[in-house]
Amino acid sequence: MTQPPSASADGVWRHLRLAPGLAQPTQPVADGAPAAMVVQQGVLRWLGPQQALPAAFAALPQHDACGAWATPGLIDCHTHLVYGGQRAHEFALRLAGASYEEVARAGGGIVSSVRATRAASEDALYASALPRLQALMAEGVCAIEIKSGYGLALEHERKQLRVARRLGREQGITVRTTFLGAHALPPEYTGRSQDYIDHLCQQMLPALHDEGLVDAVDVFCERIAFSLAETEQVFATAQRLGLPVKLHAGQLSDMGGAQLAARYQALSCDHIEHLSPAGIAAMQAAGTVAVLLPGAYYTLRDTHLPPIEQLRAAGVPMAVSTDHNPGTSPALSLLLMANMACTLFRLTVPEALAGITQHAARALGLQDTHGLLAAGRSADFVLWPVEELAELSYWLGQRPACTVVRQGRWV
Ligand code: NIG
Ligand code: FE
Repeated sequence: MTQPPSASADGVWRHLRLAPGLAQPTQPVADGAPAAMVVQQGVLRWLGPQQALPAAFAALPQHDACGAWATPGLIDCHTHLVYGGQRAHEFALRLAGASYEEVARAGGGIVSSVRATRAASEDALYASALPRLQALMAEGVCAIEIKSGYGLALEHERKQLRVARRLGREQGITVRTTFLGAHALPPEYTGRSQDYIDHLCQQMLPALHDEGLVDAVDVFCERIAFSLAETEQVFATAQRLGLPVKLHAGQLSDMGGAQLAARYQALSCDHIEHLSPAGIAAMQAAGTVAVLLPGAYYTLRDTHLPPIEQLRAAGVPMAVSTDHNPGTSPALSLLLMANMACTLFRLTVPEALAGITQHAARALGLQDTHGLLAAGRSADFVLWPVEELAELSYWLGQRPACTVVRQGRWV
């Protein structure tokens, strides 16, 4: 297939295989039979067995997918993509024996990225985030969540969120922004956590919401971050503003965050290495997605596994994401995360693939528009020229060459 730069993907895409469970064909495709998809004006109009292709589409431009597997565009549902600087020195400190908590308590960690982010201009933040976004996009990512949380003051949180919006606009990718002002206590509020949360709820969040910069609200609920009561205050503010919530929960300890998040119908609880049966039951009842972040688990050399078997048994949807951030997960490959979710967390290959598509969409509230190949949806899909779909989570350090159609454009 020759590839003009960002051409319209309109036409009939023939000779492809639809990823099982990730496509809703008009009629079932027999095992091994070729499938086809029709794109018109950037929208998926029809998909099904190639031999059942309605004659009405015969005059459209024809594209040969050469037997490739088709999946929905990948979705990275938890990232901290926009920040200043990097933290390689902390990696070295941890290798020498320091824990993530020790580094954070000694003034490193999140707060060191806050210093670098505050010092950076909006243009500089855009320029440093762009190649990271492009790395993810080259691998088939068509929608991404980007959190704030390295500004921790109104003007700097605003800067991060504006950069996130601009990345979406200028790169032609769906970006969902999440306000994570409650990521860490800013140094100027040392010893005054409650004052910061009051300021966040009374000033920061309402102002950023008014500016249209916030799609969801997140909190880092942890003994080195914010308490359950502080988390609830932020959630109550979000609820008043009509914004959905998510939670960084159970990364280092179980504070009961999952039950609280479920009471607020949270879209997702993320990390959850430490999660009780009551937390799982609450998430199941609320339809809250469990977002698994094997990159952070790996980078911190964590040994406490998330309760995968219990989540599976309870039917809690499991998403998988990079958690890209400069501290705990400098990861820029969603397929590698799928691999690690299988190897480290024992997800099956289909679970991992649903985790970076269908369930990731739900974790962003995008389940009606993203994460599934279905007629009527925007044409966001990836064609993978691999023999077996399982290769997507099999290769290490080499991404299968893929054809990406994003928002109806072939890029
Ligand atoms: O998801 N856990 C809190 N937030 C990030 C880490 C942020 C950092 O260390 O800069 C995470 O792992
Ligand atoms: Fe995170």
